[in-house]
Amino acid sequence: MGEGGGFGKTILFGEHFVVYGLPAIASALGNTTTAKVEKADVKGYELIDNRLESPGYKVAKKEEYEKLIENVINFMGVKEGIRITLGGKLVAASGVGASAACAASLARAINDEFQMDWDNDKINAAAYEGEKGPHGTPSGIDNTAAVFGGLIRFKKNLEGGPNTIEKMQIKAPVEIVLADSGKTSSTKEVVGDVRTLKEANPTEIDPVFEEYEKLAEEAKQALLDYDLQKFGELMNKNHELLQKITVSCEELDAMVLTAREAGAIGAKLTGTGRGGLMQALTPGVELQEKVAKALEEKGFTVIRTKIGGA
Ligand code: PMV
Repeated sequence: MGEGGGFGKTILFGEHFVVYGLPAIASALGNTTTAKVEKADVKGYELIDNRLESPGYKVAKKEEYEKLIENVINFMGVKEGIRITLGGKLVAASGVGASAACAASLARAINDEFQMDWDNDKINAAAYEGEKGPHGTPSGIDNTAAVFGGLIRFKKNLEGGPNTIEKMQIKAPVEIVLADSGKTSSTKEVVGDVRTLKEANPTEIDPVFEEYEKLAEEAKQALLDYDLQKFGELMNKNHELLQKITVSCEELDAMVLTAREAGAIGAKLTGTGRGGLMQALTPGVELQEKVAKALEEKGFTVIRTKIGGA
């Protein structure tokens, strides 16, 4: 039997803008999705999905996952029938990079089962093909974080050549709180809506992208300087820009406000938006707990985790 894992991730800075070649920052989460792959007497593949999930996620994403799995299998040239068993501690939900973690773990498990000896770059290419199922035209940031782990600065190469992937080191991991809006959104749909908005209103939307570009440079520097206060402020500004490109929603804005009122030094949506997750920067377990409790009191499900780990 072949086995493999893929990291969950959170986008700290730059979702959506990253699709247009602007730099973004993502961090792997401690939790992973694991895949086991074994040869089986089935046509194509059989899937046993034991992952924990945010209610309704697996049903809503069924077709996208079918494409994801087929894409990985085809890209890796698997001709025999296989049984795939998914598990691990990463909860399948919008915003934590669940599909990318699945694609990465599957590619690693296939690589293991068929002794293909692929390196991380080739595994990443296979995971990227998988991501095309749920994303359509993914930037590649999710699969890169899922395969490489750690903290990364990512810039998509719009010409089609290799993307820029920079590993970032920070002084110490930082506590964050992720909170679930309880709504599942479609990345393909939301990314498509942003494109339509951008094309229809260039005079309004292009300046938002220009402003983001400036923030992205400041954010990189703030993180490298371990100036968390500054980074938090920039996260708040990033959320405002995401509102302007219409990818936030009532629940996300409410969670952002609750987190900030409870003392978070920055809070923004993370990932696709219009549902999925909110992310709050809460250095220290005490602040993390305070913000997490404030969100829980309002009925939101939260994840207490850290960014910038190994
Ligand atoms: O919802 P997530 O965590 O899979 O993130 C999607 C990120 C986008 O920038 C919206 C799309 C992409 O391909 O980068």
